[in-house]
Amino acid sequence: MSTLSIFGAQWGDEGKGKVIDRLAADIDYIVRYQGGANAGHTVVVGDQTYALHLIPSGILHPGRINVIANGVAIDPISFLGEVDGLIDRGVAVSGENLVLSSNAHVIFEHHKTIDGLAERWKGEGRIGTTGRGIGPAYSDKAARTGLRISDLLDPERCKVRLRAALAEKNALIERVHESEPLDLEAQLELYSTLADRLRPFVADTGKLLRQAYRDGKSILFEGAQGVMLDIDHGTYPFVTSSNTGTGGIPAGTGFPPVWVEESMGIAKAYCTRVGEGPFPSELTCENGEQLCRVGHEFGTTTGRPRRAGWFDGVAARYAFELGGTRSWVMTKLDVLSGFDEIQVGVAYNHEGVRYEEYPAHLPCIEGVEVEYKTLPGWKEDITGAREWSDLPPAAQNYVKVLGDLVGAPVALISVGPDRAAMVTCPK
Ligand code: IMP
Repeated sequence: MSTLSIFGAQWGDEGKGKVIDRLAADIDYIVRYQGGANAGHTVVVGDQTYALHLIPSGILHPGRINVIANGVAIDPISFLGEVDGLIDRGVAVSGENLVLSSNAHVIFEHHKTIDGLAERWKGEGRIGTTGRGIGPAYSDKAARTGLRISDLLDPERCKVRLRAALAEKNALIERVHESEPLDLEAQLELYSTLADRLRPFVADTGKLLRQAYRDGKSILFEGAQGVMLDIDHGTYPFVTSSNTGTGGIPAGTGFPPVWVEESMGIAKAYCTRVGEGPFPSELTCENGEQLCRVGHEFGTTTGRPRRAGWFDGVAARYAFELGGTRSWVMTKLDVLSGFDEIQVGVAYNHEGVRYEEYPAHLPCIEGVEVEYKTLPGWKEDITGAREWSDLPPAAQNYVKVLGDLVGAPVALISVGPDRAAMVTCPK
């Protein structure tokens, strides 16, 4: 297929980076369309581990073109830090293989400052954001007070718009949050230096992608975060500020929706969530600790420990349907080795009503009780499995049951961090 959407079907951290890295070997263009440096995609190549935040995972494959499209909120400091870090490690990065949309919105220092300060006021409603300025930057985009990359590249326009933005934001920082304002001149100088370094990467990425499609090139759209963190369809208000699934592609790229031919969701064999918000299948007992310990569940971006729980079939079925996925990739199956029994969420119960479909109309799913099905576990270490027949029968059964539960078969299983640690499922 020539155009493919890959998205997270849970609360982010599904292991998308590794899957995209594997697929990217055969793809011409790899495209980020939403989110920002709040994402953290970990890719392990041999003895090297790369943590990518803004730059698409295809950057590790020579000859691929990596696109950061208009729907992404770009922190120039983060972006250039990532570019420098990759170059220092011998990865070729230039405007030839990494392209930035001139229409993408810029995350400034004041966005990050306000992100941190605003959380303090929210009390119980605290989201536990990554502190990367995502919410404040997307708010400004919607309020039409934001600056785009093209504004940054035009020194006069940047001065006028940044001056106006900072006047308002400094008043907020000083008077509402009682914190130190930012110095306008210092900010102008900082961002004009950054703009010069960004310039070689900037282009009209919508035009580039449409032309690539017409030329028959293959294109992979790399979702960041997961469907349950989608601003419209996730566990609002405990979500990120963008449309995280396949639905975010057309607006976030300028690529027609009908040209996206295939969609594949990624979900872990269990669930994790970082930050606040409802998590119906969360385990606060030893089993949860085991999932976190064995699965090394710490945020790639913030280092925060993640919350862990059993696979939630209700949420996953909903996420796969929203993403239009026909088959999916199950990651981290190896982490489940060692449990005597494994539970899988099959329905929610709330005030006497049983829900097999995700109840998006409930104001908050915090109060639902999960109904579980118990499946036999397995003891074997499966990190060396490369063929379906290498998996113990209980692990094969687990994969098949989850496929039936969510209404889409598992196509590929990841059994370890290494690029090669994958098993293809029988059709
Ligand atoms: P924000 O995107 O930084 O505003 O954070 C909003 C919520 O999304 C918080 O609960 C974050 O922990 C969560 N979040 C944002 N990005 C990621 C990610 O890449 N993986 C997992 N959770 C994320």
